[in-house]
Amino acid sequence: MEIKSVGIIGAGQMGNGIAHVMALAGYDVLLNDISQDALDAAIARIDKNLERQVQGGKVTPSDKADAMGRIKSTLDLVELGQSDLIIEAATENEAIKQKIFDALLPHIKDSTILTSNTSSISITRLASRTDRPEKFMGFHFMNPVPVMQLVELIRGIATDQETYNSCLTVVERLGKTAASAEDFPAFIVNRILMPMINEAVYTLYEGVGNVESIDQSLKLGANHPMGPLELADFIGLDTCLAIMNVLHEGLADTKYRPCPLLTKYVEAGWLGRKTKRGFYDYRGDVPVPTR
Ligand code: CAA
Repeated sequence: MEIKSVGIIGAGQMGNGIAHVMALAGYDVLLNDISQDALDAAIARIDKNLERQVQGGKVTPSDKADAMGRIKSTLDLVELGQSDLIIEAATENEAIKQKIFDALLPHIKDSTILTSNTSSISITRLASRTDRPEKFMGFHFMNPVPVMQLVELIRGIATDQETYNSCLTVVERLGKTAASAEDFPAFIVNRILMPMINEAVYTLYEGVGNVESIDQSLKLGANHPMGPLELADFIGLDTCLAIMNVLHEGLADTKYRPCPLLTKYVEAGWLGRKTKRGFYDYRGDVPVPTR
């Protein structure tokens, strides 16, 4: 089935990036959130990020205008029911995702492919609670979506080949590259990336280095574009902790235990850039390490 329209649930960091690249690739986008403020902020963010691409010579002003014209937003989840492809990009919390699918399912057309941008939750389990496990899969973008080349495509145990092929065609039309991952906790990227970030937090917790020395070591010593603590703040410490918990519980191996210091930052509400404080304090002109 050819996909022409895409419904996106959640207008946060990932949802607005997904709307951006989909609209730029020519898809009609309907973006949904429970808050009008979040929808307005997302549209403003997409406009700003597209403008960055215009300034960088990667997008023409008329392509930008066309893309903006293809994005509509709605507070009513039910309106997404007519989309050919739905990508759920709400908070990384299984109960919330489940509630969204329960509310949406009675209203979606039979041919719709339903996907989740989850970074770690079992696709097979999410799919099993829907009316279309064969038309359900993981569609996992990396942050920042307009810049990162990879999309992980994750098949649940029941996902059929036609669904996979349709999603692969979308990834190709976005000009991105798909990695096919089996449905095990945190898939490929986060299975490897999150234990590294968690280890960086242990390195801080145990006093082996401070925020600055740890980040500098990985940037200058391993050529990472961002240090692991800077990257954790960028992803969101709540998301990092949620993924470590999924790995810890799903693989039942103590090597995945979340660092208590990561838990403490999340308990403090210091979630990284989005709350202006995490391993760095972003409230001033330049980020200042908090340890
Ligand atoms: N939208 C559009 N363009 C953007 C953008 C955005 N949101 N963010 C950055 N850019 C563009 C910039 O305009 C710039 O373009 P030009 O080259 O044309 O000037 C380019 O990207 C580079 O950006 P900057 O010069 O501002 O900064 P930088 O060189 O430091 O790169 C970065 C920024 C791309 C974010 C880089 O630091 C990086 O790659 N960091 C690592 C990101 C990463 O690892 N992401 C994966 C996280 S894991 C994940 O997402 C999975 C999960 O489930 C948690």
